[in-house]
Amino acid sequence: MSDLVQLTKQNNIAIITINNPPVNALSPGVPEGISEAIDQIANDPSVKAAVLIGGGRTFIAGADIKEFGKMTTGKPRGAGLLPLLLKIEDSAKPVIVAIHGTAFGGGLEVAMSGHYRVAVAGAQVGQPEVKLGIIPGAAGTQRLPRLAGVAKAVEMCTTGNPVKANDALKSGIIDKIIDSDLLAGAIAFANEVAAKPASKTRERNDKLGNAAENAAVFAAARETLAKKQRGLKAPQAAIDAIEAATKMPFEEGCQFEQKLFIDCLFSDQSKSLIHVFFSEREVSKIPDVPKDIKLIPVNSAAVIGAGTMGGGIAMVLANAGIPVSLKETDQAALDRGLATIKSNYDNSAKRGRFTPADAEARFKRIKPTLSYDDFADVDLVIEAVFEGMALKKEIFKDLDRICKPGAILASNTSTLSIDEIASATTRPESVIGTHFFSPANVMRLLEIVRGKATSKEVIATCMNLSKTLGKIGVLVGNCRGFVGNRMFGPYRREAQFLVEEGASIPAVDKALTDFGFAMGPLATGDLAGLDVGWRIRKEYRHLEKPGVRQPFAEDKLCELGRFGQKTGGGWYKYDENRKASPDPEVDALVKKWVAEAGTPQRQISAEEIADRCLYALVNEGARILEEGFALRASDIDIIYLNGYGFPAHRGGPMWYADTVGLKKVLARVEEFHKAHGELWEPAPLLKRLADQGKSFADFGKQESAAR
Ligand code: 3HC
Ligand code: NAI
Repeated sequence: MSDLVQLTKQNNIAIITINNPPVNALSPGVPEGISEAIDQIANDPSVKAAVLIGGGRTFIAGADIKEFGKMTTGKPRGAGLLPLLLKIEDSAKPVIVAIHGTAFGGGLEVAMSGHYRVAVAGAQVGQPEVKLGIIPGAAGTQRLPRLAGVAKAVEMCTTGNPVKANDALKSGIIDKIIDSDLLAGAIAFANEVAAKPASKTRERNDKLGNAAENAAVFAAARETLAKKQRGLKAPQAAIDAIEAATKMPFEEGCQFEQKLFIDCLFSDQSKSLIHVFFSEREVSKIPDVPKDIKLIPVNSAAVIGAGTMGGGIAMVLANAGIPVSLKETDQAALDRGLATIKSNYDNSAKRGRFTPADAEARFKRIKPTLSYDDFADVDLVIEAVFEGMALKKEIFKDLDRICKPGAILASNTSTLSIDEIASATTRPESVIGTHFFSPANVMRLLEIVRGKATSKEVIATCMNLSKTLGKIGVLVGNCRGFVGNRMFGPYRREAQFLVEEGASIPAVDKALTDFGFAMGPLATGDLAGLDVGWRIRKEYRHLEKPGVRQPFAEDKLCELGRFGQKTGGGWYKYDENRKASPDPEVDALVKKWVAEAGTPQRQISAEEIADRCLYALVNEGARILEEGFALRASDIDIIYLNGYGFPAHRGGPMWYADTVGLKKVLARVEEFHKAHGELWEPAPLLKRLADQGKSFADFGKQESAAR
């Protein structure tokens, strides 16, 4: 039998154990091993029933996702899991599936082919395939509604969200929760049921509902998808497949599911989402930082500045159980900051995210202060005061004097040089950038900015801390705007140029929301505050090359006090509920300004709008990659997916460019270069890779191999 599956016996109960670390994925060898075990059990008269269990930390977490890439690039497809599942289900001796950790995807499908399922209270089950752009491919859409009912199956297969053991018990997916040792409990359960007739899931039709009820469930689900998962193929297919379960015999339903599964698997959406899955895991791997490096314990923290960011960061730390001192310059600012934090927690409690007691406990972990008294002992300080080099240097000088040796000194700066900030201290190795995104307690992205001297221990600790804080940490280099904002500049620049060249404001935003962004670039500007970019542009105006075209409309809007949502108007006007509508006044102003500037006006297609904005991102991303400020193209993708609303099913800007093909992207960039001048100079890396017929993903691979 395959090394990945073991068959043992305890008296009359056979035990099939899967051992394919780390997550017991159904890699080649696992299904074969289970199949062989079932055959042996059938032929062993001493066996009355079997327990199927995962070794290590989990039951089966699903199909081996690495295999999908091989399948879509030519590896012949085997018989799949379906025959194995029929074999388990047809076993004359009942199979009891024992679940701990996660029974996800193919794992749940295997479990549902067993005759009974028992689980520990902490276990989770789910059909997360949609998150990979596919649907269950081993009868999950056919067996799950038979166990859990149609509505539950639709919910699970369209959202991909896991279900906890308790909920799984209530909905009929599992039969019993085992409070003690799982294997012992499963064996006891097996002994109880060994002699009883067991039903086959595929023959259980009592939960499949009636046509009228089901029609309502499917209609409601399709309506929700149209709103919440616009343009996504897999959730639609999941509904279609479950609908088939209610209308077709099991075997036909399985064939229908297979067809949809394959359609989805070969789609660009699925390839992109699988890229995202692996990129999210790759991002924490830093080539020159050893995996077993000693981390600095972070048991206490301090935040300086209780404004927009500092308040949010203090909440993030408190939410992770880390006590935090929050320092301001005066009582009024401190009171303001604390009141915002309190109201955020109250709102979370009202919405049921935390219990009132939990919200209170989190709030109490934040200790307001006007002094540095507590700073001598803390393990980590995060500075989030106004964006100004002189002020930040002054603060880091104080921290250098006050904080204990080894404390991590971090800045939340969005544009300033970490090296220059570190130069104010005698310990630049302890200084690092932790660039949170607004609102810090909501946004998942955390750019971790490595200075020239930042120590590997400090880097590893901050990468690890990002996980503790529920963030996705991406290590970036110290350049202006780091990775995310450096690319966002050209993206938003093009959006403004397009308006100045004659595109309407809603047309620019719509081209990008149609691409899949949650929000267009101009509406995003209004949300974040147009004044933020305006101030930065004023500060760096001296660095602009004379004669190179710069957008002007947004600066002029700011001069009129139109900062966006917070002032009731920016590119759009906003009502008291912050609902946007087009503002004819802005259209008239832009018309006047472009006439004064002599900017030629023309009709601009949605395709050009999307290409100009997206390829501006890609071209800058290519420079960042070549200059080494991002470790991998996929890290840039992760930044854009988690910090800027880039649609996950497009995989991120660099992956998207690879999908289009770099030759095509380059041709378009060259076209824009000709038409719009030097801001569109093709990045050397884009040119080189396109000429060599390579992709950004190839560049990442070469790089990590070299390190
Ligand atoms: N296939 C291949 N590799 C997998 C995998 C899978 N299904 N699930 C996890 N891994 C790998 C990860 O890439 C990672 O590898 P690395 O250490 O080399 O980076 C390692 O296992 C550990 O994974 P995590 O870091 O994610 O570990 P966690 O403990 O944080 O999470 C988990 C564990 C909850 C199981 C999470 O990994 C997960 O959600 N996995 C994906 C589950 C999934 O999507 N299953 C459905 C697959 S599709 C399917 O089954 C189709 C079927 O219908 C035919
Ligand atoms: P903010 O203006 O909302 O808050 C700054 C706070 O710092 C104010 O409350 C101020 O009183 C306080 N402060 C100033 N000097 C201080 C001192 N010496 N000691 C203690 N407190 C002091 O600013 P915001 O937006 O929170 O920005 C803070 C930092 O975060 C900046 O570096 C900014 O670039 C960065 N950032 C901002 C983002 C945003 O969207 N607002 C996003 C990411 C980073």
